[in-house]
Amino acid sequence: MLLTRHTLLRTKPVEQLADEGAHTKLKRSLGLLPLVSLSVGATLGTGIFVVLGDAAPEAGPAVVLSFVLAGLAALFSALSYAELAGAVPVSGSAYSYSYATLGELVAWICGWCLLLEYGVSVAAVAVGWGEYLNSFFESTLGFRIPDALSAPPGDGGVINVPAAIVVLLATVVLLGGIRESAAVTTTTTLLKIGVLVFFVVVAVTGFRSGNLTPFSPMGLSGIASGASLVFFSFIGFDAASTAGEEARNPQRDLPRAIVISLAIVTAAYVLVALTAIGAVGVDTLSSSKASLAAVLQAVTGTGWPATVLALGAVIAIASVVLTVLYGQTRILVSMSRDGLVPGLFSRVNRRAVPAANTLLVGIVVALLAALVPLGQLAEATSIGTLVAFSLVNIGVMVLRRTRPDLQRSFRAPLVPITPLIGLALCLWLVAGLRKETWLAFAVWSVVGLVVYFGYGMRRSRLNTPRKGGATGADAAP
Ligand code: ALA
Repeated sequence: MLLTRHTLLRTKPVEQLADEGAHTKLKRSLGLLPLVSLSVGATLGTGIFVVLGDAAPEAGPAVVLSFVLAGLAALFSALSYAELAGAVPVSGSAYSYSYATLGELVAWICGWCLLLEYGVSVAAVAVGWGEYLNSFFESTLGFRIPDALSAPPGDGGVINVPAAIVVLLATVVLLGGIRESAAVTTTTTLLKIGVLVFFVVVAVTGFRSGNLTPFSPMGLSGIASGASLVFFSFIGFDAASTAGEEARNPQRDLPRAIVISLAIVTAAYVLVALTAIGAVGVDTLSSSKASLAAVLQAVTGTGWPATVLALGAVIAIASVVLTVLYGQTRILVSMSRDGLVPGLFSRVNRRAVPAANTLLVGIVVALLAALVPLGQLAEATSIGTLVAFSLVNIGVMVLRRTRPDLQRSFRAPLVPITPLIGLALCLWLVAGLRKETWLAFAVWSVVGLVVYFGYGMRRSRLNTPRKGGATGADAAP
């Protein structure tokens, strides 16, 4: 096939995307509450339960401001997500938005980044789950799963069995169908909000303002590096945008779900971080992996509140695994329908579940979770997400220019100022990540390009003439 500028920059017309969305084989069963649950469910997890403890020494009590800063980066990008989700309500999230605005090559790169945001982050989150499971076993049964069976090679173990098990369990739930999965998600999301409220109510009884001073011992640079770390805890708020074809009223509900979810998780993070540090100070908070459980133990002097919290974390983190895994399968449905990955990924069974896709993704992610250490997984996730968010911010500006006529159920305010701020904040957080992470990302991108030029570019559906003789593609912008 001839490689031309047109091939790489061809965009998929928004109307074609909308038409595919309208004729989706997936089932439209999700209202606003399940969509909010999906996003909150995909977001509240390892970040607040584990990474808060890792980030606190970086910034001191001002880690609360790190959450605000990371939340702001997420907010500006959320506005862009909300506009595009309302205008292009299909299942592919940032990938589909890029296809409609920035062209096939960028869309592919975006989809490739989303494999990091979704697929690899499930593995990272599952590893955090194993740590809380061990803490729960320790506090109730006085026993730990031996390191050989609960840590990957390179982290003192052989294979991380709990991490693999939680991924496989989530795979089985997803194979049961979207309505059943949504019911599980709504229940577990409400439960984990309840657990965090329980934490705040107990921790606040031990609040001493002296624990908050000195407030910012490392100054602005500490707050900034804390923000790069805790950004992980915001990943997932965009998950509702992967359910565009299973939402009953996507135009109305997707933008609302994204903004409401972000408001809920930001409020939860700031409250939890403030009460945790106010109760025990930074040192005690960061002394244990199961840091929030340690806070409750210190505040109450008894074991049961910490045990309740550890159990809550086990459920909370498992629901992140479920929802993020769901998101990954739906993004692959969109990429497959476009011909950029094999057709197997978009084939659905009689229950309207993309079963082969779900099974394959579940197995690969379970292997990653079993064999790769948490730190490496989490950083790869953050950089992939930040690049995808950057593309969404650019996409909003491009679509305002190329398709000013398009019906938008939500309009981000003050465009281009808000997406430009969103873009700048994302790039600033990327700059705060380690050089090794950039290098790993560069290698990942090169592999992605090889796959695109070797497979996707040739198989793209936009190569096929649509009815009426034209190809499916819009002219390059
Ligand atoms: N935001 C997700 C979590 O913190 C990835 O677990």
